[in-house]
Amino acid sequence: MPISIEPLTPLFGATLTGFSIRHGICDDVIAEIDRALYEYSILLLPDQPMDDNEQVAFTERFGPLEETLPGAVGAGSKVARMSNYLPDGRLKDPDGQSALFTQANKFWHTDSSFKPCPAKASLLSAREIAVTGGDTEFASTRAAYETLTEDMKRRVADLIAYHDIAHSRLKLSPDAVTAEQRAKMPAVPQAMVRVNPRTRRKSLLIGSHICRIDSMPDDEAEALNEELVAIATRPDNSYRHAWRPDDIIIWDNRTVLHRGHPYDEVNDRRLMIHTTIAGVAPMFVDGRIQAGA
Ligand code: OGA
Ligand code: MN
Repeated sequence: MPISIEPLTPLFGATLTGFSIRHGICDDVIAEIDRALYEYSILLLPDQPMDDNEQVAFTERFGPLEETLPGAVGAGSKVARMSNYLPDGRLKDPDGQSALFTQANKFWHTDSSFKPCPAKASLLSAREIAVTGGDTEFASTRAAYETLTEDMKRRVADLIAYHDIAHSRLKLSPDAVTAEQRAKMPAVPQAMVRVNPRTRRKSLLIGSHICRIDSMPDDEAEALNEELVAIATRPDNSYRHAWRPDDIIIWDNRTVLHRGHPYDEVNDRRLMIHTTIAGVAPMFVDGRIQAGA
């Protein structure tokens, strides 16, 4: 049976059905999903139950995976637990460092933009959903780029922004990030406008990890980043997903921002498992933007 692709919004996003990952899918279906990712930026795959090993095996069919960040639950493995409870079932202290670190996902961001080689795509599977809240929202930075005024396109054209995971965490609390995390993940430079080597379409690399922009005072840099995020995340350029158990969403970090909505972390339980497909190359080498990164 051919896979079915239904758009989620007029601008981006699609629901893909007609296959079962657990029962095995052939390379042609993987190629179709990958092709759809380039076209639609976010893909919803409903009713795809999976455990961690199945998720790693499925995600690896799209390319090598990133390792989970230092200091996170599952650090050094290929799966990240986005949850308010630990693998042994105990609730995290909602004001503790580990919970705060994850809560900073409520700011619009792009996964791994703070790594020299920013991620290609992320996959999140809904293992246990919150009773209320806990939606995830996406916004197209490619559609946003295409709606910028010519003036703004010129203004952002050659900008280099520094991305730092600590910066986004420290907006929430001084306790949200450890000294080890700060030391191991220093700020990295990235182009603010990137061109996808396959689609040739441009998109913005913006969001909460940006701590400064080259040759710009910090307050101006912050205002510009905020202005661009506001343009990108207008309701008509966004998609908010209310999760159902066994939903999977794959998103292209090169063309979308995303954020998690809060839920009751004290009385409710939510478990999402995250795997990340690595980017192909660092974006910035020897002071220059690399074509095709
Ligand atoms: C992520 C993320 C948001 C959420 O997994 O990268 O930002 O809603 N998640 O859990
Ligand atoms: Mn994220």
